[in-house]
Amino acid sequence: MRARLAADSPISELMHTALTRPELISLAAGFVDQASLPHEATRSAALALFDDPEATRAALQYGTTAGSRELRARLLARVHAADGGGALEAADGGGRLEAAVEQVVLAAGSNQILYLVANALLDPGDIVLCDAPSYFVFTGLLRMLGARCVGVRADAGGMCLDALEEQLERCARAGTLERVKAIYVVSYFDNPRGLCLQAERRARLVQLAQRYSTRQQIYVIEDAAYRELAFDAAPAPSVWSTDPTRDVVVYAGTFSKSFAPGLRVGFGILPPALVQPVLDLKGNLDFGAPNLNQSLLLRALELGLYEPHAAQLRAIYARKAATMCDALDDAVVARGLGRYERPAGGLYVWLELPDAIDTGPRGRLLARALEEGVLYVPGSYFFPEPEGAPLNCMRLSFGVQSEPRIASGIEKLARAIHACR
Ligand SMILES: Cc1ncc(COP(=O)(O)O)c(C=O)c1O
Repeated sequence: MRARLAADSPISELMHTALTRPELISLAAGFVDQASLPHEATRSAALALFDDPEATRAALQYGTTAGSRELRARLLARVHAADGGGALEAADGGGRLEAAVEQVVLAAGSNQILYLVANALLDPGDIVLCDAPSYFVFTGLLRMLGARCVGVRADAGGMCLDALEEQLERCARAGTLERVKAIYVVSYFDNPRGLCLQAERRARLVQLAQRYSTRQQIYVIEDAAYRELAFDAAPAPSVWSTDPTRDVVVYAGTFSKSFAPGLRVGFGILPPALVQPVLDLKGNLDFGAPNLNQSLLLRALELGLYEPHAAQLRAIYARKAATMCDALDDAVVARGLGRYERPAGGLYVWLELPDAIDTGPRGRLLARALEEGVLYVPGSYFFPEPEGAPLNCMRLSFGVQSEPRIASGIEKLARAIHACR
């Protein structure tokens, strides 16, 4: 039974701890800020929709497997504009946009896109190269499918491409290159480290994937879940934008982080060869993501309700991140208890402690932190290959807690670290 391969997910254990001990300050969950969820914007979008009986009935009907064409066209144009490409329609009177919209698939969250793409691509024993550390829901999915996730070293600029090339060479020498089906990167403010794939590495990543695609296409799966949560300057153009053929990169986007995860609207922009396989799988799965939610999001975008909300969120998360980082500087870094890179967006900080401190479920620190009343995610959970993974790291999230509770949580954590030193 395949479900056996999905059992014992670390996240279920952590969620259980957080839920059964509500007094804990959880810096673990990757949830978004509750107080800023877009009640007013969603209300206005819903009223505008529900005032139009015909549009409402259409939204209450099944949609298409790929999802609302209008929304897909809008999302494609947004990504294109964020990449500095301007409006696609303007480029050639609409022809290119028409064709490219066929490559966009809407899904119940971007996780479903990742799920469909992985299912479309992978046979048991196939290999996916991932950042070490990486988003553990995706690596868990790969394991469930019987695929192998092989970790590639990452530094402050994201995946190290020399390490990637060495790994691809190793596969070539071992005769396993034809099992390598994809390279997975979270390109903006990643989960778990809050860091971006350096702009200069993006085009080279695509070139490397192409160079080693001798027998079969090695796809680059670009998970852009946190792209819209940049605190200041617009982040670098996507990896997808550096793929001149559009045959290599899968772009997975979502409105969970920048609008409302409860809507579960995510999307994929797929290379043409993957569109039909993904739609075939989706046709068997649900024949279309929830239509009403797509209509609500479309209204929110059309009425100009989304952008101000996302801007407000960015400011809220920037303040929360600063609170967490300032508290870490005072209580942890200044006392020689750990180090981290200040994120410029997203929801996470990756903290590295002295080597001797084991942050894992069997180490002293987690128990001590729980005694103090604070929860974090052990860093080892994020490493695609547990053997040899560093034990001294943790992911901290500033998404959920208020600023005073973030500051207090870090003080508690610092006390626990100090006690375990
Ligand atoms: C890196 C990354 N990708 C994808 C997702 C999935 O988001 P959703 O399915 O809500 O779009 C998450 C959620 O936490 C994430 O952290």
